[in-house]
Amino acid sequence: MFDRPGSGERAVLVHVQTQYDPEDLSELQELAISAGALPLAVVTGKRQNPDPRYYIGTGKLEELSLAIAEHQAELVLFNNRLTPSQERNLERALSVRVVDRTGLILDIFAQRARTFEGKLQVELAQLRHMSTRLIRGWTHLERQKGGIGLRGGPGETQLETDRRLLENRIRMIQKRLEKVEQQRGQGRNARKRADVPMIGLVGYTNAGKSTLFNRLTHSDVYAADQLFATLDPTLRRYQAGGQMPVVIADTVGFIRHLPHELVAAFRSTLKEASEADLLLHIIDASDERIDDTIAQVGEVLTEIGADSIPKIEIYNKLDLIESASPRLEYDEQGKVDKIWLSARTGQGIELLDQAIINRLGGEIRRHVLHLAPTDAALRARLFEIAKVLKDEADETGGWTMEVEVAMKDERRLKEFGKDWMPEKNEE
Ligand code: GTP
Repeated sequence: MFDRPGSGERAVLVHVQTQYDPEDLSELQELAISAGALPLAVVTGKRQNPDPRYYIGTGKLEELSLAIAEHQAELVLFNNRLTPSQERNLERALSVRVVDRTGLILDIFAQRARTFEGKLQVELAQLRHMSTRLIRGWTHLERQKGGIGLRGGPGETQLETDRRLLENRIRMIQKRLEKVEQQRGQGRNARKRADVPMIGLVGYTNAGKSTLFNRLTHSDVYAADQLFATLDPTLRRYQAGGQMPVVIADTVGFIRHLPHELVAAFRSTLKEASEADLLLHIIDASDERIDDTIAQVGEVLTEIGADSIPKIEIYNKLDLIESASPRLEYDEQGKVDKIWLSARTGQGIELLDQAIINRLGGEIRRHVLHLAPTDAALRARLFEIAKVLKDEADETGGWTMEVEVAMKDERRLKEFGKDWMPEKNEE
């Protein structure tokens, strides 16, 4: 990768293994390229504990300095989380810009955010990141240098002003976000009323979500061999198998150990996933660390409360695996739970349609029901979601109803207990 042509900021990557930073090097390389940097060299090391001043020791600092000179680098990217003072000390010692892992991911978010909400959320995360740096940076300097040039006078005034400006801006963005959030909520309600099931595409970054989304919906959502090509959820209608309308939501790719202050920037897209009727978990079948990656996504899904949503695992990039052909796998209840396909070549896409119909049950069933007088809420719900063919009051004060319900809607009757539906359909 190091002789990769093209422009980009010339960067040296630093990857230090400590007990606190479990990140891996290949992801840093992908993140760096994603952010538009040109990685020229890697400096690696191992430490029990980070050095408080530079994170790395002075020997490593020397090595880093030489690498920067050799490659004429303008930028150093750390795979670790640096404190503001470590970042500043490093910048002073090396005379180049130093960005840590959080800063790097934020930069990528900022480049990728497309919708209004996404942009706001990224800006909010950036401001928060900045404000901790400003404040902590100042107290740190004050302690260390007796506050020369900082205590009193224009230094302090400037810092106070900056802090106030930042806080104002943060408040303003939060307000705007609340509003956008409300509007999105309304959109969601409208969708619920229209009762179109929603399918969320989730998966590790670069697994092929956007490619699959585009193939299904023929849209031109930006898909690139870059991380985070999709920061914002994108919703499209789709007719599964040409007969079952669904809404598909593309979401941002997950990454390992997302810094906690960035989780909020994901909230909108995660929310889509946590409200889906069905999740398609897209997996890069050619990934060497496939099990770990699947587990990572599973963890995030649990965190956002989406672990109980029905899920199909999509093993994508089948074209990269020798002698593999598209196929479906069923669980013991006869539900499709795994599919092998290629979003890029289109092999096996029709199996996905089949699976969606299998899992969301487009099939319509007819039922004759005898409702007690206390079942008014169930009756109201039936009028909402079913086609009512017959509705007659009987002598007990209840009703006899004949209804047609799509299987996908039967789940919305579950709250009325299991016994509402007769064992056998009465056709
Ligand atoms: P993020 O936006 O980072 O979360 O990525 P994503 O999951 O949306 O991935 P995307 O669709 O952008 O695809 C990532 C890369 O994998 C692109 O270069 C795609 O062309 C490639 N890709 C996607 N599907 C396939 C496939 O079936 N086969 C092969 N060979 N490559 C694929």
